[in-house]
This record gives sequence, C-alpha cells and structure tokens, in this order.
Amino acid sequence: MASLKRDEKNQSEILSKKYAGDQKQMLLDCGYSEKAVQYFIEQPYMGSLPDADQISDMLGSCGDTMKIFLKIDDNTISDVRYQVLGCPGAISASMAAVDLVKGKSIEQARNLNDGDVFKQLVDIPVKKHHCIQLAVKTLHKAIDEYRNGHSELKDVKCPSVCSAPQDCCKK
Ligand code: FES
Repeated sequence: MASLKRDEKNQSEILSKKYAGDQKQMLLDCGYSEKAVQYFIEQPYMGSLPDADQISDMLGSCGDTMKIFLKIDDNTISDVRYQVLGCPGAISASMAAVDLVKGKSIEQARNLNDGDVFKQLVDIPVKKHHCIQLAVKTLHKAIDEYRNGHSELKDVKCPSVCSAPQDCCKK
C-alpha cells in the first residue's frame, strides 16, 4: 500500500515537471524570452505584505486584475508584492517591475515606464505589451495614492516622461 502511494507521488511529480517543461517551451515558442519565462515560473514577488504601507489594485481593459503591496521606508520602496489574476505576460511584467523599483526612491519608482519593464523582460509577444502597461499603471496608482495619504510628499513634480498622464494629471 505504501509503495502504491509512493508510486502515485512519483508519477504526479514526473507529470508536474513535464507540464512545467511543456509550459516553458510553449511560452518560448510564443515569443517570451528565457528571462520572461523565468519570472513567470518562479514568481519571486507574488503574494502580499502583511505590513504594507500602501495597497492598491487595478482592473485592466482585458479584464485581468492586479493588486500591489508597497512597503515604504524613508521615501524608499523597501519591498513590493503583486497579486495577479492574469496571463503570463501580466505575471512576468509585474515581477520584473519589482526588480526595477525595489530599493529605489518613490520618485524613481514613479518614473518607471513600460520601456524599462520591456527591457528587463528582454522580450514578450507584441500582443502582450499591454500587460506591461497594467503592471506599471498599478505601481503608479499605488504611489499616487500613497502620496495623497502623505501630504508632505504631494509636491513632488510629475516626471517629464509619464506613461500614464491620465492617472496623475487628473488629481
Ligand atoms: Fe490582461 Fe495580459 S491579457 S494583462
């Protein structure tokens, strides 16, 4: 009986490894770079932060949703997590965005644009570029909402290159 259970466990491990390999190959074939696939599979910043200073969410035009958790210490983004109900593009873009803003000042993080995330991912399919926009807009929204709750930070100038002017200029 014990050996039957062990066989079943081995079988399911083999199948899940095979599925992960198939999934990786499918993504590579679709035009995702190795780096983008790695972000999607490892999902290093997926989850929540119980002591977050800001939690914001955004619904994309495609219907996918992201929630972001920011930990901010002394005007610095010290930690970030995303929860993503979405596609591989959304997951890899949000994970890449964290690597680009963690340890940066709020101003530097607010200057993050879609091109920065695309470079970090190396490549994703053209039809998935809007997923990068969703990751960046979610981050921008969280920073703007954090600043609105901290009036001493409101005077910070709008970045000259802004990928979501409709979000920050409305305020
Ligand atoms: Fe909606 Fe990728 S398809 S974020």
